[in-house]
Amino acid sequence: MQITSSQLRQKYLDFFRSKNHAIIPSAPLVPENDASVLFNTAGMQPLVPYLLGEKHPMGNRLADVQKCVRTGDIDDVGDDTHCTFFEMLGNWSLGDYFKKGSIEMSWEFLTSLDWLGLDPKMISVTVFEGDENAPRDEESADIWANLGMPRERIAYLPAEDNWWAAGPTGPCGPDTEIFYWVGEGEPQGNKWTHSKEWMEIWNNVFMQFNKKADGTLESLPAQNVDTGMGLERTLAVINGKKTVYNTDLFENTIEHIKRIVGESHFNERGARIIADHLRTAVHMISDGVKPSNTDRGYVLRRLIRRAIREAHKMGHEDACLAQVARDFIHIYQDVYESVRNNETVIIDEITMEEAKFQKTIKHWIKEYFKMLDEKNKNLEFSQIIPEGMLLGDFLETNPHILKGEEAFYLFETYGLPIEMIIELSQESGMKVDVEWFSQSMQTHQDLSRTASAGMFKGWLADHSDVTISLHTACHLMLAGLRKVLGEHVMQAGSNITPERLRFDFTHPEKMTPEQIQAVEDYVNGALKAHITVTMTEEPKDNAKARGVLGAFWEKYPETVKVYKMVGDDGVTYSEELCGGPHVEESSKMGTFKIQKEEASSAGVRRIKAVLQ
Ligand code: ALA
Repeated sequence: MQITSSQLRQKYLDFFRSKNHAIIPSAPLVPENDASVLFNTAGMQPLVPYLLGEKHPMGNRLADVQKCVRTGDIDDVGDDTHCTFFEMLGNWSLGDYFKKGSIEMSWEFLTSLDWLGLDPKMISVTVFEGDENAPRDEESADIWANLGMPRERIAYLPAEDNWWAAGPTGPCGPDTEIFYWVGEGEPQGNKWTHSKEWMEIWNNVFMQFNKKADGTLESLPAQNVDTGMGLERTLAVINGKKTVYNTDLFENTIEHIKRIVGESHFNERGARIIADHLRTAVHMISDGVKPSNTDRGYVLRRLIRRAIREAHKMGHEDACLAQVARDFIHIYQDVYESVRNNETVIIDEITMEEAKFQKTIKHWIKEYFKMLDEKNKNLEFSQIIPEGMLLGDFLETNPHILKGEEAFYLFETYGLPIEMIIELSQESGMKVDVEWFSQSMQTHQDLSRTASAGMFKGWLADHSDVTISLHTACHLMLAGLRKVLGEHVMQAGSNITPERLRFDFTHPEKMTPEQIQAVEDYVNGALKAHITVTMTEEPKDNAKARGVLGAFWEKYPETVKVYKMVGDDGVTYSEELCGGPHVEESSKMGTFKIQKEEASSAGVRRIKAVLQ
């Protein structure tokens, strides 16, 4: 079947209308009554009060198309399935139907020839395997099996995959996820999560619980259903495409970008990033966000600036973003009034931000050269970058280690966000001393800016309990890595959000599964031994002489803070130079799990890990 994005929205709403659902409009991207999140990240977010038991004026069955923004996976944007903006097709039962009704309706919508008519053979599902919070979801598995889903296409997965929650607190529950085969030939395998060949298209969450601030679960007054189907992904699979970028929402824009930068410079992934980021920017501005250095404005600014960088990388340094934004205004003006009514504002904001950034980056390079060498102080920009040379080419041919002080100076003086400094530096082969930078940040006055920058993607995103716990886990993990892999392992950067820790370290090759397991065991061993964390201050030379672990010693003041983690078995699991903060003891830290180990840059590996 060939179908457009408009037809898919319509079909979805028509289907659920025919099943007695009231159709509600998309809420704006910016949550109206919820200061805890920057943007709506799921269709259920505006409905939280109703999922918690409030009566909804439109009844117990609702459906909508909700605009969402998720920036957590920004590094994956440009692959086949990730976008920072997406539309979520959702249907809800507020104490009405539950697992059976929900799964049967999803199946009918997907496979009935009256609706999407997808081939059932191409579909597989996952259900919750059970843990101390909720039992193994045999009920959902049986419902799927009764609909004709072969048992070998029903996978039981742990909470990490099949438990859905919007945030650290609030409504949550087990879910069943629906995947579609986009690989070559016949569908294969039974490991479809994290596989590129099975695309996740729909998630049905059975919201039975409310997670309280102390981490415990209480049953909700009613059994609710919250589903979310990705419009972009579903559109791709119905039309037989492997990527969301090959749909009517993107195709013409990618071609347009090719014309702008020229065929010979064109890079598909770069074009996808520009398109994705501009589409998100258009919707953010249409919902009232303006580029700035804090909160939502900062997220927007960063998206626009990343798009500019991608254009630069393709050798295009003239303003071009407004042209791309117009494509999206054209696509969405008939769908969203906010876009239709704000065309001028959208174009103006993007044009101004683009011009501002071109100026900032030139300043940045000039200042940077001054810092490299005093004698460069009086150089004009044109003397630094030869006439006619592209900024991107210049950055690539000037490798250097950008010291923490330098990065901090640029941040303080020019308001250049640290993430931008890091990205620009990495792209040009430099390394930013992030650890030092984060120490300086902690003493920096403007804490609010730090916090909001971190909400997007920082080093220590905030000082919530979970982030601090992950920071402590980072120390234990580094000690474990050195024990398992050897003393050559040093920290090369870190970034911690409430969701996960990301940690870069020096090591020449991929870790084996056994090594990963051994590091996890080391950290969990420390947690089982109930480590307590103590901080002492001592002269730097002392600490160094004692062999305290630390990178970038030269950046620390004469007196340093040393964090020591000792178990009740008397073993010192970690002792490291650090600015903190850390937990005092580990009883609430949970279990440590490494989710991913991959290359970061030459000789540097990257781990993503969680506490669960
Ligand atoms: N709230 C669920 C999700 O976002 C449906 O995946």
